[in-house]
Amino acid sequence: MKIKKSNLIKFGIVISLVLFGVILIGFFTPSKEDSLELDNEQTITGTSDNIITLTAQKFSFDKDIIRVKSGEEITIKVKNLDAEHGILIPDLGVFGYGKDEVTFTPTQPGEYEFFCANPYCGGGHQRMKGTLIVE
Ligand code: CUA
Repeated sequence: MKIKKSNLIKFGIVISLVLFGVILIGFFTPSKEDSLELDNEQTITGTSDNIITLTAQKFSFDKDIIRVKSGEEITIKVKNLDAEHGILIPDLGVFGYGKDEVTFTPTQPGEYEFFCANPYCGGGHQRMKGTLIVE
């Protein structure tokens, strides 16, 4: 079968346009991670912004999920709006009751539950928890 050169060129142009379109769509479509990101989730990626402010009030934190990179030092500042709360991450040995902030470096990827560090903050203390995801 003989293929005309002009047809080949047309075919090439069509393929190029399709590829270009796919690239454009990819560029303007939010990535899966962006679209799934919740308001109460904070993702820490760079080393310069490894400071997380966690606001605590009766009886929740403003972030349910904090996502960080393993091997990077992070600082979590706890801002108490009412009672004296704090952050406790038992599996990482982090205990931040009575402190404004805790600084630590998670080295093992995984999911770590965090809790309010003060069992006497009030009747809803048990509900104050979230997950630190170390990637
Ligand atoms: Cu807040 Cu215990």
